[in-house]
Parts: sequence; C-alpha cells; structure tokens
Amino acid sequence: MAAMDAPFYDVNLSYEDNYAKGPFGAFAAALESRAGAGVATSAAETAATAEASSENFLGLPVNLPFGIPAGPLLNSRFTDAAFLMGFDIAVYKTVRSRQWPCNRFPNVLSVHPRGASIDPEGVEKDEGVLADSNYGTDATRISISNSFGVPSQDPDVWQPDMAAAVAHAGAGQVLVGSFQGLRKPGMSDEAYVADCVTTARLVQETGAKVIEMNTSCPNEGHNRLLCHDPALVGRICDAVKDEIGDTPFMIKLAYLPREEQVEQMVRSTAAHGTVQALCTINTISCKLVDRNGDQALPGAGRDRSGVCGAAIREAGLAMVRRVAMARERLGTAFDIVGVGGVTTPADYAAYREAGAAAVMSATGAMWNPRLAQHIKATR
Ligand SMILES: Cc1cc2nc3c(=O)[nH]c(=O)nc-3n(C[C@H](O)[C@H](O)[C@H](O)COP(=O)(O)O)c2cc1C
Repeated sequence: MAAMDAPFYDVNLSYEDNYAKGPFGAFAAALESRAGAGVATSAAETAATAEASSENFLGLPVNLPFGIPAGPLLNSRFTDAAFLMGFDIAVYKTVRSRQWPCNRFPNVLSVHPRGASIDPEGVEKDEGVLADSNYGTDATRISISNSFGVPSQDPDVWQPDMAAAVAHAGAGQVLVGSFQGLRKPGMSDEAYVADCVTTARLVQETGAKVIEMNTSCPNEGHNRLLCHDPALVGRICDAVKDEIGDTPFMIKLAYLPREEQVEQMVRSTAAHGTVQALCTINTISCKLVDRNGDQALPGAGRDRSGVCGAAIREAGLAMVRRVAMARERLGTAFDIVGVGGVTTPADYAAYREAGAAAVMSATGAMWNPRLAQHIKATR
C-alpha cells in the first residue's frame, strides 16, 4: 500500500485559508512547475494527447471523461492544477448570486462506517457514524464528511476567476461552472426560480462550456432537498434553459431511493430537453458522532452532515443504474455523470459499465492527486 499523498485541500486549515493559499501537495507542485516551464509546454502536451482521443463529454472533446466534481476545486488555481494533473473535467466549486459564508471550522472529518459501505436506506446513518480526525493511510478506502454550507464569493470575485479557469483548460479539457439558487426562508418559488436564472446567466458570462446546477441543496424543511421536488426542479430547468440556450446544462442529484422518484425527475428535466446530463450522487446525510457518542461537529444544526468517499460508492453505482433504467424506460436521450466513492481505476470502469458517460471523484482525488494519471495508465 503506497503512502497517502497530502490532500490538495488541507483539511486542517479553514476554507478561507485553503481559498487563499491552496492548492497543496502535488497540485501545488504542478502549478510551480508550470510557472517554471511556461504554460505553453503543458498546453502543447495536452494537445498531443487530445489528438489521440475520441472521447467526448456533452459533445466536447475530452482526453478522458474523468474529472473532479463540484466541491474541492475552490478557485482557478485549483482548477488549473487539476487540469495539469490530467483531470480533464474540472468543476469549479458551486457559486451563488452573492457572497455566502462558510460553516465554522472544522469542515471535514474522517468517517468510519461499520462496514465498507453506508446503506443510504439503512439505520446506521441515523444511529450515528463515528467521525474523527484519523484519516488512516489508505487513499482507496477513505470516507469523509464535508460540512461547508456551500460558501460562495461575491460574483464580482468569482466571475473573473471562473473566466480565467475556463481560459486555462487545455485541449481535450472542459471547465464546468456549478451554481445553486439562493433560497431564503419565506421566499416565493418565483423569486427562487429568478435567482437560479440570474446565477446561471452570471456563470454563462464567464464562458463556461458546461453549466451545472446543484439540486442536492436544502429546499424547505429539515433534510428536504430541492431534488425531492421534481416539479420545482423542472420549472427551474425550463427557466434556466431559456436563459442559457445551447450551453449544455446538467443537474446534480442526491441519492434518490425509489425508481419512481428518478423517473419523475427525468420526465420533468431531461425528457423536456432542458437538461443534457444528470450528475449523481451528492453526499449522503448521516448523523456523525465522536467516540463518546456525542455530536462530532461543533455547533447547532450540525448533528448531521454529508458523507462522501469509498463508503458511498455502492449507493452511487446503484443510483447510476437506476437513472440508466429510467432513461431506457422513457426512451429519452441524455448523459449520466457518475460520482461517489471513486478511488481506483476499477471504480472508474465500474461506473462506465453502470451507464455513466463520464465519471468524477472528489474525495478519492483529494487524497490521490494522481488518480487521473493512474486511470489513464491502466487503459
Ligand atoms: C470538500 C467537498 C466539497 C463539496 N462541495 C460541493 C459543492 O459545493 N457543490 C456540490 O454540488 N457538491 C459538493 N460536494 C459533493 C461532491 O461533488 C460529490 O458529489 C461527493 O463528494 C461524492 O463524491 P466523492 O465520493 O468522490 O467525494 C463536495 C464534496 C467535497 C468532498
């Protein structure tokens, strides 16, 4: 077992420090060598690989349909480094229509389910899963919780930075801009839809080639996510697609346990032609406890947090299969982007086999910054 790399997002630092000083480890080294060698060298290298590739992502040529989903790539330094390390799809962390603070530190804990996986329909996630700062030594088995609250810079900051991120993609590489609407208590659906449309337009203005909307965000009530309301998601997607026209649009879904929920979602989005890809899954909400059984993360409302990494791989694969089955039943065409617990080349292959046209890894890539290179080496 190889020693674990230093994660490119330093979990021992605050989000703000990561934003200002990151990325770290091999990602930082990649940026340094680019500075030494000049951008042209790496772009030329990428172009050479792109010519040999026949793969595409939503109609755009990619060297390998593999990348890092919304989350750990906080700004253009992170996305630049991801491209340099061979992740050919880089999603810029979800932005909002105005500045939004991050949850209090710590934002990441290591999570230790009883078995290899967390059953999203089982009781363990409600009884409490042990969470601490022991990350172990095996990057292929790591599971974490992330509790950020989807922080965002103001558009005045993120728009020029996202535009730079788009411009720095090499040949065969794609920058995806992710956003979510800002839902305030008591807000009407009209106002919420309007905020989603505005934010999508702000993302489009950066030149992002693909736009993603996170629907795994809280909607109304405890643990009720936007994607639990397919009619509202459909309404938002209609309005966003009207605004962004031909730019490929995908939505990010949480794990949905029932076939009919998935089918309804497909009917109200992709079957309308408003959405070109469904990206799934986001984290699975679990109650997190320390070794005394007490709340692991400090502060009110943080008894539960999203778990990601190896423990959710089976759930991610199950959800991709469920979406693929709904697509077949409805006879509609759209792409599936598989996310959740990808830490090895075999996991990438399993997602492709399950029906994913593209695959992404957040936790696995954080602790193995060479994951894209490893996958490419096995092909
Ligand atoms: C540090 C971190 C931050 C994240 N932030 C976001 C986010 O802002 N928007 C989003 O849609 N998903 C976010 N996610 C969820 C990931 O995109 C992904 O769906 C989830 O982590 C499962 O993939 P994994 O098992 O490879 O980590 C985040 C994940 C991590 C690890």
